[in-house]
Amino acid sequence: MTHSALLRHDETLFRDPEVFEFTFVPEQVHYRDAQVRELASLLRPALRGGSAENAVLRGPPGTGKTTTVRRIFAEVAEVTHRVVPIRVNCQHDRTALAVFRCIFEQIFGYAPPSRHLDGIKQAIAARLRDEDARLVVCLDDANYLIPAGTYNTLLYQILRLYEKWDVRKPGVVAVASDLSLNLYAEADERVRSVFHPTEVFFPPYGKAEVRGILADRVRQGLYPGVVPKSLLDRIAGIAAGEQDVRVGIDLVRLAVLRAEGDGRRQVTAADVTAAARAVVAPVLRARAAGLSESERALLSRIAEQSLAGSDMTGGAVFEEVKDYLPVGRTAYHEHLKRLAEAGIVDLVPGTGRGRGREIRLRYDPAEVAAACAGQEDLRILPAARNFDR
Ligand SMILES: Nc1ncnc2c1ncn2[C@@H]1O[C@H](COP(=O)(O)OP(=O)(O)OP(=O)(O)O)[C@@H](O)[C@H]1O
Ligand SMILES: [Mg+2]
Repeated sequence: MTHSALLRHDETLFRDPEVFEFTFVPEQVHYRDAQVRELASLLRPALRGGSAENAVLRGPPGTGKTTTVRRIFAEVAEVTHRVVPIRVNCQHDRTALAVFRCIFEQIFGYAPPSRHLDGIKQAIAARLRDEDARLVVCLDDANYLIPAGTYNTLLYQILRLYEKWDVRKPGVVAVASDLSLNLYAEADERVRSVFHPTEVFFPPYGKAEVRGILADRVRQGLYPGVVPKSLLDRIAGIAAGEQDVRVGIDLVRLAVLRAEGDGRRQVTAADVTAAARAVVAPVLRARAAGLSESERALLSRIAEQSLAGSDMTGGAVFEEVKDYLPVGRTAYHEHLKRLAEAGIVDLVPGTGRGRGREIRLRYDPAEVAAACAGQEDLRILPAARNFDR
C-alpha cells in the first residue's frame, strides 16, 4: 500500500475478509484452554484404540463451543485416520435421515445415493469397519432436536450403531446454548444406559476477553493501523454489553467497510457509531417488541426524559410520567424491573443521601425512542438478524 491517506479504488483494508465470517475457525482458540483440554482428554481414549467418552458442551451463545469443537476435530483428523470426527449442525439437520446423510457425506465426500436410512448406516458402518476407525459425532445445537422430537432416537441410533453393525463404539459430543436445558436429563432411559456424558461448561467472556479475541481478528484480517486501539476498546465494550463476541466481529467488519467505502485508511469514531446503529438497532427492536404495551410506553417516556437531559432518578422519572401513564407506584417499579431484565436499562443504586436509584439507558436514547415508535411497523419488517446461530 502507498502512504497516502486515501485508498486507491482498487485497494482494500482487508488483508483477509474471511476472518470476519462467522464460520471462520481461528488458529488460536483464546481463553478456552480448560475446555480444550477437557474435550481432548475425553477423545484421547479413541486415539489410543479405545472408545471416546461422551460429552455435553453447555454455555450461552457465542462462547466458543462450535469453534472449540471445530478446532479439536480438525486436529484429530490431521493426526489420525482411526478416529472420524464429524460435526452435524442440528439447526439444519434434525431428522435421523438428515443426520446420517450428513455423516455419510462427510465421510465419503459425496451425498449418499440412497434415501434409505438403513442403507446409509450400513455404508457408513462398512467404511468404519474397513478402516478400523471410530466415529465421533458432534451434535451441534442439539437443543433443536428436542422440539423436533428426534433427540432420543438419534442418540440411540448413533450410540448403538456398533451393536447392529458391529463397528467400534461411537462417541457423541452434544452441544447446547440453552442453559435451562439439561441434555442428559432429556435423554430417556434406554439412551441413558449408554450415554454418560461429562459436562464441559463455557462461561461468557468478559470485556477483556472479548477485546483479546477481537484484537486477534483485527491482526489477522486487516492491514496494520486500520482500527485505532481506543475504537477497538469501544467496540469490545459494546460487544461485552451485548454478551456476544459476534456483535464485536460484525462491528469491526461494518466499521471497516464504511471507512473503505469512503476511501479512508483508518476507521473513525463515526464509523463505529454508524456500525453500532446497524448492528444494535435490530437487537433493540426485538427487545422492545418483547415488552408489554404499558412497559413500552414507560420506556418511551424514559427515552424522552433522557434526551431532554432531565433528572433520571427513579423518583423524579415517576413524578414526570405519572400524569401521562396510567401506572401506580408498584406497577412502575415492576415495569422498571422488566426493562432491566430485558437488558434495555440499568438500575444503578444512587450515591449521596436520600438519592434513589438512577435509571440508565444502555442504548442511545434516540435509538430507544425509535425502537419503541417502530413497533407498529415491526410485523412487516424482516426478523432481526440472528448472528448465524
Ligand atoms: N475463544 C475464542 N477465540 C477466538 N474466536 C472466538 C472464540 N470464541 C468465540 N469466537 C468467535 O466468536 C464467534 C462465536 O463463536 P462460536 O460460534 O464458537 O460460539 P458458540 O458457543 O458455538 O455459540 P452458539 O451457541 O450461538 O452456537 C465465532 O465467530 C468465533 O470465531
Ligand atoms: Mg455454536
